[in-house]
Amino acid sequence: MNNIVLVGFMGTGKSTVGRALAERLGWSFVDSDARIVEKAGVDIPSIFAASGESGFRELEREVIGELMAGCRQVVATGGGAVLSERNREAMLGGGFVVALLAERDVIIERVRGDANRPLLAGDLEARVDKLLAERAGAYDFAHLSIDTGGMTPEEAARVIAEAY
Ligand code: S3P
Repeated sequence: MNNIVLVGFMGTGKSTVGRALAERLGWSFVDSDARIVEKAGVDIPSIFAASGESGFRELEREVIGELMAGCRQVVATGGGAVLSERNREAMLGGGFVVALLAERDVIIERVRGDANRPLLAGDLEARVDKLLAERAGAYDFAHLSIDTGGMTPEEAARVIAEAY
């Protein structure tokens, strides 16, 4: 398989584990959110403010489609990318898909104070609980799932590299 694609809820460590994994494999690391920001020319909260979540998801589908055509990349995807069936199919066709999991409280502590995630604006605990409930099972399509809670990014990267 051409790429390793990391999926998972916000705060599960996709970017940090992805960087460690890319370094270990000598592959490039790509973050789909960073590509979206490059394409839009503005940050994620500005995309949501101007075009809504649906505008963001449209850009996200374009970017995921483009990235899955590449190879030898570790791709960290946004937490909601898996909600699109087209994205799920593109990911499964483009690489080895790994779901990163973490406990609710670990997620909350990791994302606290981050103003770059519009879906978590307001009451953080309530927003995370609602989204976790809505997305229950959404990451189950992955080839492999790992709980990153008690692991360093390097340990998670090693587990993934050995399973690939
Ligand atoms: C989102 C997760 C974010 C980003 C956007 C929407 C989501 O990425 O794509 O704010 O719907 O879960 P991270 O998972 O990297 O925070």
